[in-house]
Amino acid sequence: MRKKVMFGGAVLTAVIASAAVAETYQSAKLAEDGIHDPTNESVQNIMQEPGEAMVDFPMDRLGMINWVKAMDEGFINPRKSLSGDEFDGEMMLEMDLDIIMKQTSFMPYVRFPHLPHTKWLNCSNCHPKIFVPQLEGNPVTMEKVLRGEYCGVCHDKVAFSLMTCERCHSVPHEQSAPAFVGK
Ligand code: HEC
Ligand code: HEC
Ligand code: HEC
Repeated sequence: MRKKVMFGGAVLTAVIASAAVAETYQSAKLAEDGIHDPTNESVQNIMQEPGEAMVDFPMDRLGMINWVKAMDEGFINPRKSLSGDEFDGEMMLEMDLDIIMKQTSFMPYVRFPHLPHTKWLNCSNCHPKIFVPQLEGNPVTMEKVLRGEYCGVCHDKVAFSLMTCERCHSVPHEQSAPAFVGK
């Protein structure tokens, strides 16, 4: 699916495969997904199909799984490390600090919440390679995000779609348009 995103006088064409991705991971059969070995007995007899395992999971507006809700509501409980031992490897440290990013022109401001990120990620997944840990220390723009930099290193890839604008642009201000729906 191709979508045109227009802002600041510039027109960007972003190739958005998110809807198709949702299809794939919710309806794909393990033996046919190109990741699991179809000749492996566990794949045939033991492992549950993703579509079946995730049937009750909370969804977002685009019909993709809302992983933040899925974790908050107890559907999943990810391990803190590969071995399952909390103290194995780098310590996961949860941090509740919201950053409000205001260079958003007519769009509501962006709230970047550390908390839901640090439930899945280490500080070093972002600092200092993707973001220097300094308020307004990073020249982030939407164009760069859509090109896969900054937030776009993960969003639209392993985290929720960039087409759910409202999940990032969640803080209305005087000049902002009413709740934006990017569908
Ligand atoms: C993953 C989070 C995220 C999503 C989703 C997102 N944005 Fe942004 N957006 C940002 C960030 C971060 C900035 C830069 C804010 C700053 O630097 O103060 C930004 C900036 C902008 C700006 C300001 C101008 C510019 O070029 O930077 C516009 C307009 C904008 N976004 C539109 C959109 C639209 C439309 C959508 C949905 C199609 C969208 N955004 C989805 C994070 C996001
Ligand atoms: C998903 C990416 C991500 C992760 C993970 C992350 N941060 Fe950040 N951090 C950011 C962003 C984005 C900013 C805002 C930078 C800006 O304003 O340009 C920021 C800002 C900061 C700041 C500056 C805040 C201020 O008010 O001056 C500190 C300090 C910081 N982070 C520490 C941490 C620590 C400690 C961890 C781990 C517990 C962590 N961060 C995990 C993305 C992340
Ligand atoms: C290193 C990877 C990474 C980067 C970089 C990153 N995110 Fe995320 N983000 C995630 C993951 C993983 C989640 C949780 C899974 C999901 O929601 O898909 C998440 C969740 C969120 C949520 C929580 C939504 C909710 O419902 O509570 C917001 C908001 C968000 N990200 C905004 C941003 C913004 C804005 C930026 C850039 C300033 C950014 N993220 C950069 C990986 C990242």
